[in-house]
Amino acid sequence: PEVTFSGIQPTGIPHIGNFLGALSNWVSPQQTTSITKTALYTIVDLHALTVPQDPTQLRKNKVDMTISLLACGLDPATVLTYLVDLGTSTFRMCMDSKLYYANRMAKSQKKNVQSIEDADTSSGLCLGLLAYPVLQAADILLYKATHVPIGEDNVQHLELARDIAQKINKLYKQDIFPLPQPILAPAKRIMSLRDPTKKMSKSDPLEQSRINLNDLPSTIALKIKKATTDTIKGITYDPENRPAISNLVTIYAAVQGVDVEEIVEEHSASDTMKFKEALTNVLIEKLTPLQKEIERLKNEHGYVQQVLQEGNEKASLIANKNLDELYKLFGLR
Ligand code: TYM
Repeated sequence: PEVTFSGIQPTGIPHIGNFLGALSNWVSPQQTTSITKTALYTIVDLHALTVPQDPTQLRKNKVDMTISLLACGLDPATVLTYLVDLGTSTFRMCMDSKLYYANRMAKSQKKNVQSIEDADTSSGLCLGLLAYPVLQAADILLYKATHVPIGEDNVQHLELARDIAQKINKLYKQDIFPLPQPILAPAKRIMSLRDPTKKMSKSDPLEQSRINLNDLPSTIALKIKKATTDTIKGITYDPENRPAISNLVTIYAAVQGVDVEEIVEEHSASDTMKFKEALTNVLIEKLTPLQKEIERLKNEHGYVQQVLQEGNEKASLIANKNLDELYKLFGLR
């Protein structure tokens, strides 16, 4: 059976990188629950503990993320709340287990562990942070996912999940885990508005590097106006030589749901300022209804809690069934 599974960290309000790179697929008809397919989307609170969290703020961020996902059009029946089991406390302990040699490892690990770039590595890496991709693989495999809609930065993590799945299948001579495959959106990697060599990220200290789903029209206008460009005339799509403009073209095309070629054709004679104005308008047009829905859902506290509660029950049901099977397979039960 086909199982679509993916997750997002409880960072409060997503940015357009999350939205265009991953969430757009979560709400697409192909990746929602149907007769032939189960879809499960989770807010990964456990993963959030790889960096210090204020408990009250974490709880609030989780609710805000749920609201954002629902406002983006996610089917409430596909929402899973992350299963908190015994592993939680163990994993939490990992966060405090510094690897003293980790600073040396950081360079080589950086290639493999995406979230390291999102964390403070100056004081040494945490075991928990290094284990992050393993935890992600455990999520994916526990739900026996076949399809995983993610941004490009998560493809390496999925490769690890496939690798672990293959090893366990081979070791126990059973097809216990299907091999999960990535589902990538056309805007699989949205870059920072201020530095097109870096991906747009929640943890970038420069607020102007990203557009959040709840940014006011005036904020969107200002951030796009200040976005990095180049001195070449006209609008073209050439990520290698014109990364900044190409990133804006990618955003424009993804928001409109068309190919980049179409945007370039439409705007090739335009100057940067005019192009930025047009992009600002399409972004505002796209985000305004989402923002209205976010505001509406903020007053529906009971409903949002119910979605989280039901998601939690569903997660426990599926996870416990699969865990039981795994415990038996491993000889633990
Ligand atoms: P998170 O919360 O960092 O990101 C959520 C999703 O957004 C995508 N994304 C982007 N896509 C395009 N351009 C960007 N600039 C950009 N920034 C983020 C991410 O690729 C991701 O798909 N490790 C996951 C959370 C996770 C998970 C899982 C995902 C935990 N367990 C199991 C799938 C399956 C993450 O990075 O979340």
